Amino acid sequence: MATGRATAKLILCGEHAVVYGEPAIAVPFSQAVIETEVLPTKQKTKFSSAFFTGDLDNMPPILFGIKEMVEAILKDIGTEPVLIRVLTEIPIGRGLGSSAAVAASVARALFAYFKQELTDETLLEFVNQSEKLAHGNPSGIDAVTVVTEKPVWFQRDLSLETMHFHEKLFLVVADTGIPSETRAAVADVGRLIEAQPEKFKPMIHDLGNISREIRKQLEGAADIQQVGKAMNAAQVILEELTVSDSSLEKLIRVALQNGAAGAKLTGGGRGGCMVALVSSKKQAESLVKALHAAGASEEWIFTIGEGTHESNSGSSHQYSAY
Ligand code: PMV
Repeated sequence: MATGRATAKLILCGEHAVVYGEPAIAVPFSQAVIETEVLPTKQKTKFSSAFFTGDLDNMPPILFGIKEMVEAILKDIGTEPVLIRVLTEIPIGRGLGSSAAVAASVARALFAYFKQELTDETLLEFVNQSEKLAHGNPSGIDAVTVVTEKPVWFQRDLSLETMHFHEKLFLVVADTGIPSETRAAVADVGRLIEAQPEKFKPMIHDLGNISREIRKQLEGAADIQQVGKAMNAAQVILEELTVSDSSLEKLIRVALQNGAAGAKLTGGGRGGCMVALVSSKKQAESLVKALHAAGASEEWIFTIGEGTHESNSGSSHQYSAY
């Protein structure tokens, strides 16, 4: 038996705009790791996951990207049929890059099983190929973040930089429980831009500028009020682009009412997950409770950066009362 692992990703800012060449920031979402096992089997290659169990040939359309990738890998290096078993706790289709992470973990497990070396470059090609079928017009940000397992500043076909955050920031991610429709949302944004470029192109550019502002903050002193303000501004634009929905907006409202400095959807939108920025672990813990009470199906506390930043604005006042 061989195993392969991959970590999901979280887009902090720039989703949708990144499809049109604007920058986005994504980080590995270490709370959600996918593991795949590859075992020997008789006769035909089989695939097993929370979604589907059966012969590779019978995989449903939602897994076509993975199916084609597996076929391509087996054609190259496969010498016998295998059972591919995906073990995951990551909610599929929640804007956390699960399709790219499943693809990466499957490719890693297959290469390990057949004892072949897999470079990041080759893995990226496989994952990108698989994402094209899953997404239609992916920017490539999911694949890059999942393969590099580093925070990235990503501009389609232009720039990929690893980022370093000096201050530690607390984020709360909450799942609406509703599958995100990334493919449809990306297509609809494309239609809006085509129909009314004078209205929607500047919004895409504004989202890019928000990513630039957040980068400046994260690589500097990371004023969480400024980062939060930028996240809120991004959410307003994402709503205009019709990729938000009432399930996301409900959780975002709860986050802001509970003292988050900012909150927005993450990933494709229309269901899926939201992310909120808070000033401390304690505030994150109380926000988790509030989001859960408001109907979130799952919540995670998540930190980025290495420092010890705890904002002394807003909530520190709250703490002195404890
Ligand atoms: O829903 P996710 O996690 O696959 O994220 C999609 C991000 C988009 O910017 C909406 C699309 C893309 O390919 O960049």
